[in-house]
Amino acid sequence: MIRKLTLGASLLASACLMSSAAFAQTVGFSQIGSESGWRAAETTLTRMEAEKRSIDLKFADAQQKQENQIRAVRSFIAQGVDAILLAPVVATGWDDVLEEAKEAEIPVVLLDRMVDSSKDLYLTAVGSDLVHEGRVAGEWLVGEVGDADCNVVELQGTTGSSPAIDRKKGFEEGIAGHDNIKIVRSQTGDFTRAKGKEVMESFLKAEAPGSICALYAHNDDMAVGAIQAIKEAGLKPGEDIKVVSIDAVPDIFQAMAAGEANATVELTPNMAGPAFDALAAFWNDGTVPPDFIQTESKLYTQADDPQAIYEQKKDLGY
Ligand code: AHR
Repeated sequence: MIRKLTLGASLLASACLMSSAAFAQTVGFSQIGSESGWRAAETTLTRMEAEKRSIDLKFADAQQKQENQIRAVRSFIAQGVDAILLAPVVATGWDDVLEEAKEAEIPVVLLDRMVDSSKDLYLTAVGSDLVHEGRVAGEWLVGEVGDADCNVVELQGTTGSSPAIDRKKGFEEGIAGHDNIKIVRSQTGDFTRAKGKEVMESFLKAEAPGSICALYAHNDDMAVGAIQAIKEAGLKPGEDIKVVSIDAVPDIFQAMAAGEANATVELTPNMAGPAFDALAAFWNDGTVPPDFIQTESKLYTQADDPQAIYEQKKDLGY
């Protein structure tokens, strides 16, 4: 029903929606887990945005497991919530449960990651252009190394997740045509600090000493773990090995201020604000939002006063 209302049905739905909007809404939020500082901030901000709007938020932490997310969404449907926010851990395997939400006439809004299901199965998605983020990181490296040869190691996000797929693609696009820059190793670090460190240790062991020129990490947490591994190997992160990553969490600004990281691409953790705004309009008069509500991506480097940005960000729930 979400995208295929006839005019009559639309008016009827609007009338019902308007009357239900007069009451406090209940929204179920199926969160992936707490793998990164960015994810913690997204959870905090979603709770704050819900509170601001007097929305009763039902929160379910899936501990990185898709089956837990599917169970949570089914439970939200059974409870008859007014909407569901879903941050999908991986891109595939959502058709059945999204169909069930659609049949129950419960709008679903995707947060920060995409699914490969038909767009008719969810109301909208709020997120960044994930390919663009990777491209910005790749282009930054191109500008940084010029014509010098540069062997890059890549820490990918969770296998099968849309940011891992798209940020890889974008980075490859960003360095395309610059044959002096080569990705020599690429492995998942699952978006966590611990795994980022572990995989970076294995990269450092596998490659000839001094041969890695840059690290590209799909998120800052993996970069922070990798920075530790680089230091333990007796090298200087940010100098011997350039570090570029994505998210713009406070800890990466601290690393940038210390000269140990070079650049990050910001991903706003406030996905819930635009999501609740879209839902409010939908509840009020049936306004159907665009398929995709895009948030901004901004590149930060050591030239941007990272210590000041750290101070601004450190108490924002990361
Ligand atoms: O989907 C967004 C990604 O998921 C963030 O970049 C990462 O930190 C998180 O865990």
